[in-house]
Amino acid sequence: MNEAHKAIGVFDSGVGGLTVVRALTERLPYENIVYFGDTARVPYGVKSRNTIEQFSTQIVQFLLEQNVKLLVIACNTIAAVAGNKVRALAGVMPVIDVIGAGADAAVRATKNGQIGVIATTTTTNSNAYARAVAERKSSCRVVSQACPLLVPIIEEGWLDHQVTRLTLREYLPPLLAEHIDTLILGCTHYPLIKPLLAEETRGIALVDSSTTTAAAVADVLAEKDLLNPQTTAPDYRFFVSDIPLRFQTIGERFLNRPLEQLEMIGLG
Ligand code: DGL
Repeated sequence: MNEAHKAIGVFDSGVGGLTVVRALTERLPYENIVYFGDTARVPYGVKSRNTIEQFSTQIVQFLLEQNVKLLVIACNTIAAVAGNKVRALAGVMPVIDVIGAGADAAVRATKNGQIGVIATTTTTNSNAYARAVAERKSSCRVVSQACPLLVPIIEEGWLDHQVTRLTLREYLPPLLAEHIDTLILGCTHYPLIKPLLAEETRGIALVDSSTTTAAAVADVLAEKDLLNPQTTAPDYRFFVSDIPLRFQTIGERFLNRPLEQLEMIGLG
């Protein structure tokens, strides 16, 4: 098969990465996509590095078997602790991850060099965003805040809810006190509460790594001459390791379209 016709492989610990798929379908409407969400073992955000590396290896092996042309790590937690492992497994295949794309966009957006990050506990503890920003612009300072309650709240669908607003009012003040002018949404679930975040962080630039990741994928595909030349309806396939209660509803909320071609597959 011609390399450019192959699908983009996207993966996450669960449903969150579907926000990246949504951004990809908008930015690159003719690309075929294979998604894997590890719904049986989510959340990753509280697990150890070893476990996340082991799970990520299984997912990457699965996606490589699907004959993809590029891998997207659509999970901040995986990118933070297993990014190098994924790149080693991928070999010469391009790998784009949400942290690199988010750090690029934040460095471009900030004027005062003070960048905030909200993320899961594992991502925050890994310091991956601080490292990624420092590699790009050493004069920038990164302050991070773990927001462990946001993932379950968002999966509950409380996108514009008083509980979510109050939770943000607990998490955000330490970042606001540091006079950040840019805030990275360091978890793929958070784009769903962007309107609420914008209200609670007025005047601060929000970096949504789903759209910045889609833009980075578009750039790499163009650069490597891998853009799908076909302009017919693309093929989207969704694999998950479990189909839990309400998965269809939650998934469609993340994807913003019907979740068809869904298949359950066990790994490991
Ligand atoms: N999707 C994950 C991320 O972006 C959050 C969910 C999890 O903890 O597995 O970090």
